[in-house]
Amino acid sequence: MDSSEHNETDFLSSEIPHNDGQSLDCAESVPVAQDQPLVDELNTQLDILKKQLAETQKLTALGELVGTTTHEFNNILMTVLNYAKMGMRHKDDQTRDKAFDKILAASQRAAKITNAVLGMARNRSDIIEPTDLGKVIEDALVLLEREMSKYRISMEIELMDVPETQCNGNQIQQVLLNLLTNARQAMDAGGTIWVKLEYQADENMNVLTVRDSGCGIPQEELPRIFDPFYSTKAGPDDSGKGGTGLGLSSCLNIIDAHQGRLKIESTVGIGTQFIIQLPIAPDEDHLAVA
Ligand SMILES: Nc1ncnc2c1ncn2[C@@H]1O[C@H](COP(=O)(O)OP(=O)(O)OP(=O)(O)O)[C@@H](O)[C@H]1O
Ligand SMILES: [Mg+2]
Repeated sequence: MDSSEHNETDFLSSEIPHNDGQSLDCAESVPVAQDQPLVDELNTQLDILKKQLAETQKLTALGELVGTTTHEFNNILMTVLNYAKMGMRHKDDQTRDKAFDKILAASQRAAKITNAVLGMARNRSDIIEPTDLGKVIEDALVLLEREMSKYRISMEIELMDVPETQCNGNQIQQVLLNLLTNARQAMDAGGTIWVKLEYQADENMNVLTVRDSGCGIPQEELPRIFDPFYSTKAGPDDSGKGGTGLGLSSCLNIIDAHQGRLKIESTVGIGTQFIIQLPIAPDEDHLAVA
């Protein structure tokens, strides 16, 4: 590894790290106010554009979800059909038991996927409320399970028991799907993605970390990756995802709206880690004792 490409920082530091190419902390910015009316006008326009961007991203996420789940359902249906035929052809108990087991497992998986999609569809509001973040993460993982195994990605999941998070489950799921898809696309020849949820007592925040063993991001690119339409991808991959360059900018907007923090650490040739800090629900404060 070339140490000059090692872009890392201690994310528990309460100071905002300088953007010296070592790391990027994206939740803070300092507006320069010279001509106040003009700044106000520009901020209003920016807000409108951000809202439009968020709507676009929601539709993209929905489109991707339809693509992913339709493929997945087709696969499950094939399994059910093939084992049903096998059970019809072979009358012996052993083959039939096996066929029923496979059909049952496939149907249970289909039910899990439907539940995850319905969870997303049911909650279309933008309300930020006490949410079981572990459940949100599990649902997102169910949706991408098959895609990950198709691309030879192994998933290491560690979900600690944390206080409820003050968030919009749908939006955080959208963030997670974006980060997981990016992580998968950073590993052409397969690899590992680590997803971790933990409670950070000293800051009284829940922390969601998504790490990959992918190509990493050169330090000179780090400040640009959150720009709308910045993408190093030629276009959508064969799963139909990637290449618009809106994924990370929408993640940043969502985390901003939650008064959370999003940080990135990356090492070229080793991998990338996104760290999201989100506030815990107000009535969970009594759990703040370490
Ligand atoms: N985990 C990662 N590893 C390496 N590079 C990454 C990772 N995540 C993001 N990037 C880089 O940041 C760029 C911007 O990511 P972003 O998700 O915003 O757009 P995209 O993935 O190219 O397209 P889409 O908006 O369709 O997701 C990517 O094109 C890629 O170069
Ligand atoms: Mg992306």
